[in-house]
Amino acid sequence: MQGSNLKITTKLPEVSTTIFTVMSALANEQNAINLSQGFPHFQPDLKLQSLVKKYMEMGLNQYAPMAGIIPLRKAIAEKYRDLYVAEIDFEKEITITAGGTQAIFTSILSVVNKDDEVIIFEPAYDCYAPTVELVGGKPIFIKLRAPDFRIPWDEVRAVLGSKSRMIIINSPHNPTASLLDSTDIDALTEITNNSDLLILSDEVYEHTCFDGREHESILRYPHLLKRSFVVFSFGKTYHSTGWKLGYCIAPEALMKEFRKVHQFNVFSVNTPFQYAFADFVKEKEQYKSLNNIYQQKRDLFLNLLKDSKFSALPCHGTYFQLLSFEKISQMYDVDFARELTIEHKVASIPISVFYHDKMDQKILRFCFAKDDDTLIKAAEKLNSI
Ligand SMILES: Cc1ncc(COP(=O)(O)O)c(C=O)c1O
Repeated sequence: MQGSNLKITTKLPEVSTTIFTVMSALANEQNAINLSQGFPHFQPDLKLQSLVKKYMEMGLNQYAPMAGIIPLRKAIAEKYRDLYVAEIDFEKEITITAGGTQAIFTSILSVVNKDDEVIIFEPAYDCYAPTVELVGGKPIFIKLRAPDFRIPWDEVRAVLGSKSRMIIINSPHNPTASLLDSTDIDALTEITNNSDLLILSDEVYEHTCFDGREHESILRYPHLLKRSFVVFSFGKTYHSTGWKLGYCIAPEALMKEFRKVHQFNVFSVNTPFQYAFADFVKEKEQYKSLNNIYQQKRDLFLNLLKDSKFSALPCHGTYFQLLSFEKISQMYDVDFARELTIEHKVASIPISVFYHDKMDQKILRFCFAKDDDTLIKAAEKLNSI
C-alpha cells in the first residue's frame, strides 16, 4: 500500500500488540483451552437481550444525549443509594461511556496535564500507563508483590510531591484478585486529606467479591468521592463485554471536565442498549447473585487443582485465579505460558507483562469465568504436568 514511507513519530514507543491478543491467537492456533483473556463464556441474560431488541424495534436507534439517557442514569443513582446510601446526582454526576476503558481514558485526559505524576500500582491493567503517557503525564509505578499484593502505603507517601496529580486504584484487582480493605481506605484518606490529589477508582469487578468480603467502593466514602472518578462496566456485570458499555461517576466539578472531553471523544454511546440496561439494572438479584456464581467457579477450579504441582495464590475477587509454577519450572513466565499453550493446550496470561519492568514472579493468571466443562478439561491438563 502507498504511504509506507511516511514519517511517523509514535506517541507510544513501548506499546506493541497486547499479550491478550498474542495469547488468544496462540490459543486458537494451538487449539488450546483459552483461559487467558478476561471475558465470560456465558451469554447475557435472555431478558436483557430481548430488551435490546425491543428498544431497537421501537425505533430508539439515534444519538443518545451526550451524558447518557436519563432513565439509565436515574437507575444507576438508585442502585448506589440502595447499596451504599450514596447520594449521586444523576444529572450532573453520572456519564454513560463506551465501556470502562473509555471512562478511564476520558478521566485521565480530562484532568492530567503535561508532567503531572500519576501513581499506578503494578501489576496494573494495561490501559492506565499508556493513557497517562498520551497526555504527557508521568506514571509513577509502585509494585505490589506476591502473595498478597497489598499496597505498600509507605512507598506511596515517599513518592508524593508537588507534581502528584492522581492515584489510580483498582479493587477487586485485575490481575491479582486482591481487594482493598478498610485499612487501605484509611491510608487513602490520610494521604489525600488536605491535598489536590485526585483518585481514579476502577471498580469494574464491583460484584465479584468472595468469602463474604465486601467491596470497598469509593462511593461509600463521600470524603473520597469528592475527589474521585469511579469507573464501572456493564460488560463485566452482565456477561456482555462485547457491547462495550460502562459509566463514570464523579462529583460535578470533575464531571464537568470529563464531559468536555467525552463529547469530542465519543459524544454519546449506543441508545437501545442504554434503554435495555435502564430496565435491567433495577433487577437487583442479577448483580447481587454474581458474587456467589463466581465464588462457585473459583472453588471448583481450586478444588480441581488441589493435587496439581501449581500453587494457588489467594483469590478474593474478580474472575481470575493466579497460579505459581515455581515448583514446576524456573522459566521466564512469558516463555512458560507459551509452552503451556503449545505443549499442554491451556492458555493463560503471564503476570510479568503487567509490570513496566516485566518483573517475573513465576505466576500465571487464569480466567475462570468459563463453563464447568471447560474448567474441568483445563484442570485435567494442568494436573497432568
Ligand atoms: C481492571 C479493568 N478495568 C477496566 C476494564 C475495561 O472494561 P470494559 O471492557 O468495560 O472497557 C477491564 C477489562 O478487562 C479491567 O479488567
